[in-house]
Amino acid sequence: MSGALFGADPARDPRFVVKERWIDCDNLARDHPLHRVQFFHRQMNEEVDSLEASAQALVDFPEAAWALRLQLARQCADEARHALAYRAQVERRGGHVGQFPVLNFQYRIITARDDLISRLVIQNRSFEAGGLDAIAYGVEEARKLGDHELAEFYEAQLADEISHVRFANEWIRKSLKEDPRTLLRMGVSLNAAAQAFRQVMGSEGTEGADYPAAVQARLDAGFTPEEVETAAQMQAAQAQAQAAAGGPARA
Ligand SMILES: [Fe+2]
Ligand SMILES: [Fe+2]
Repeated sequence: MSGALFGADPARDPRFVVKERWIDCDNLARDHPLHRVQFFHRQMNEEVDSLEASAQALVDFPEAAWALRLQLARQCADEARHALAYRAQVERRGGHVGQFPVLNFQYRIITARDDLISRLVIQNRSFEAGGLDAIAYGVEEARKLGDHELAEFYEAQLADEISHVRFANEWIRKSLKEDPRTLLRMGVSLNAAAQAFRQVMGSEGTEGADYPAAVQARLDAGFTPEEVETAAQMQAAQAQAQAAAGGPARA
């Protein structure tokens, strides 16, 4: 995979097998008995990636405003709590840490950028905003399955993730106001991140992975109504295109 698009791997202890591309992971079918365990294991590692990316931002940008550093530190605490909660979900179902290969593309794509606003744009405003849609969908799904404990965990996580996306949106807008050239840097960084994401996921890894836009969560997270409307339209169009192509049902 192209070096300029990816930073170094985060550390993982010997329990973990780390892969670079989605296709090299287990990717069990939805009806496989371990599918749910694998899903929670993947979420657990993604939370660790997010914790590590925010912690790395604290290390790499010591000159950032104190109020922003405080929010990044709080984010680290939240992501650590989420990782532990997903680990508990894995273990509750008889699974264990390291049972499945993991991907660390989020950390590597985020830390490839050398300015803090670009990292917030990719980590919080893109990956985590997408997470809002997935978690809001998860709440509904867990309620339908009667797993109220899981639904409540998702609701608590959603509240945390909304605050992560919101503080990023606030700092990004502030930076845009202070220096309009920020917009150019954001464009370059988002482009690089999208290119890197395609290299990791291929077409297989993103099929059926779109969730409907979580309108209220996105508004709460500081997106404007116009931005939410655009996200909703794009996701609906993608879902339609996948359905027309006989794509798989939502994961
Ligand atoms: Fe999280
Ligand atoms: Fe988060």
